[in-house]
Amino acid sequence: MNQNRLKQQVAEATLSFVDDDAVIGVGTGSTVNAFIDALAASGIRIDAAVSSSEATTAKLQTIGVRAVDLNTTGSLDLYVDGADEFDPHRRLVKGGGGALTREKIVAAASRRFVCIVDQSKQVSVLGKFPLPIEVIPMARSYVAREMIRLGGQPEWREGFVTDNGNWILDVHNLDLVDPVSMEKSINELAGVVTCGLFAIRKADVVLMATENGIERF
Ligand code: A5P
Repeated sequence: MNQNRLKQQVAEATLSFVDDDAVIGVGTGSTVNAFIDALAASGIRIDAAVSSSEATTAKLQTIGVRAVDLNTTGSLDLYVDGADEFDPHRRLVKGGGGALTREKIVAAASRRFVCIVDQSKQVSVLGKFPLPIEVIPMARSYVAREMIRLGGQPEWREGFVTDNGNWILDVHNLDLVDPVSMEKSINELAGVVTCGLFAIRKADVVLMATENGIERF
């Protein structure tokens, strides 16, 4: 089965978490796009969505769902998003699409975070996927030096600007055996907006599409 079909399957399985008239948080990426398509094809009519990126806002508009400001909604019951990696504890690496900061905000403001992935995202220990870090532009070199000190090999995602006007460092070969400590250490660095580790606020549910159906963690 190809990866797009797996994404469609997990997208359809996610619909059972969505209630009519709800305001839900919606993440970013190709799996989330499949979820938005599945939502449009379902009979479910949500009231609105808090979007984690300009790309998702545009996609939601194509199916007639309005994007609303998190400042006006209060806490959300549900946040749906993909991931670049997940471990057996439902801790994640995210930010391959560069939307990590808004994703982290919406996840933090949601009571239930349902992460939707295909089987290619499953790892026993996080860290194969380079860890994205959003930085204030003037702090790029400083944060890169600090990431070398923490054992990684940073690479500037040159030419990419986040929705917040910042830059991304992708850090290779970090030891993420203790992702909670690493998340705290990186987030303490001056100039870091946030890092793509979702270990402190991890997923509550991971739905993974496999050749043999949906697995839930
Ligand atoms: C976006 O910034 C990321 O966090 C995505 O959630 C992640 O890259 C997963 O994207 P795909 O569903 O396209 O693999």
